[in-house]
Parts: sequence; structure tokens; C-alpha cells
Amino acid sequence: MEANPSTMISTTPTLTPDSTLGEIVAARPAMARVFERLQLDYCCGGRQTLAQACARAGLDPQTLLAALAAAGEAVASEVDAAGMTLTELADHIEQTHHLYVKSELPRLVEMAERVARKHAWRDARLTEVWQTVGALADEMLSHMQKEEGILFPFVRQIDAGTGDGFHCGSIANPIRQMEAEHESAGKATARLRELTNGFLPDTEACNTHRALLAGLLEFESDLHRHVHKENNILFPRTIERASRN
Ligand SMILES: [Fe+2]
Ligand SMILES: [Fe+2]
Repeated sequence: MEANPSTMISTTPTLTPDSTLGEIVAARPAMARVFERLQLDYCCGGRQTLAQACARAGLDPQTLLAALAAAGEAVASEVDAAGMTLTELADHIEQTHHLYVKSELPRLVEMAERVARKHAWRDARLTEVWQTVGALADEMLSHMQKEEGILFPFVRQIDAGTGDGFHCGSIANPIRQMEAEHESAGKATARLRELTNGFLPDTEACNTHRALLAGLLEFESDLHRHVHKENNILFPRTIERASRN
């Protein structure tokens, strides 16, 4: 089994403009909140540096560093994913994020259908919201099936030192495929954000419409944390471990 990194690393890496967003959130989960608030992509875009993210978003790096320092003092509500073994992290992702997606998406699809059927006559975008949530549900369920049925069992074998080859030839190929699917899910939630004015209800929105928007906002935030744990922690560490086994 992989040695617990928290026992090997005694200090948190120093924060600089060259730190990547993925590294920052892996070392300090509380900082994800700052990135969420500023809509900086730390999951699929986790390889960009703080300086690059600031340049793209038109932000001052010093102001962002100050906000991150303040977040670092806040109590982190997120688990310490970077301190887990590969097996612990795969189990954690399945038992929290995957369970949440499986229970939440059917509810969101059902609400999106009801809202579109009732109110699309006054806002045609609601039909696209329904279609987008439906397509996202199909994609995510098939994606998680591949992770749970193929990739994660192999991750656990690598962690136990018994993974002696992957039937696709390399662990990097299925991981690349999972990362491409994360991009696609991220684009779907970004489109939903556009179609709903940032998940904000208008004054005429009924209770179901409001519940749908609140649910989509929460889903987007969970997806960011879920993808971050896979793209920035689980996948690179699995590739690194596989190369050593
Ligand atoms: Fe996943
Ligand atoms: Fe995934």
C-alpha cells in the first residue's frame, strides 16, 4: 500500500504565482471556495498556474494571493484527499461524489422536464436546460460505471502492488479518456450556468424552478470537487505509482 503522504510531508508547499490551481486545492482544500467564487477552473483546468489563471480572468495576482491566505485560515470542511492512499481516495470518491450524482441527477432531470413543460412558452432556454441535464445524466452515469467497473479496481490493484498490466496497454489511456469526459461534463454545467443567468431565478420562477436552480448550483460545485480529486490527485498519483510498480 502507498505510504500516507501526510506522514511524509510535514509542511504545506509555499503558495506562489507559479503554483498550479490543482496543487493549491490538493494541499489546501479550503481554497477551492475562493476559486469557486471567482469562477476559476481548478478541476479540469487544474494544471494552469495562479499567474495564468489571473491573466485569463483579469485579476490581480496579489489580491488573489491575499484572498487565498484568508481562506487558508478558515476551517476546511473538505476531507484531506491529498492525505489518503489511492485505495482510500477511490473509496471516498465512490461513497460520496458518485453516490450523490446517482441520487441527484434523476431528481434534477425530472424537475428540469417539469419546468420546461410548464414554462418553456415564456423562456425557450428551459427546453435546452432540460436537454442538457438529460444528456449530462446519461454521460455521467456511463462515466462513473467505467470508473467503478474498470479504472478504480485497477487503481486499488496498483495501490496493493498487484497491478501487473492493464488490458488497454497503459493506465494513461483510460485516464485520458476519463479526463476528456470530465471536460465534457464541465462544458455541460458551464452551459447550464449560461442558460440560467448563473443559476439565478427570475421573479416569475415557481418553486420547482427555484429548487432546480439551487440543485444545479450545488451539482456544479460538487462536480468541481469530484473532478479535482480525480484529475489532480487520484489520476497523476496512479500513473506515478504504476510507473514504479
Ligand atoms: Fe468519478
Ligand atoms: Fe470521473
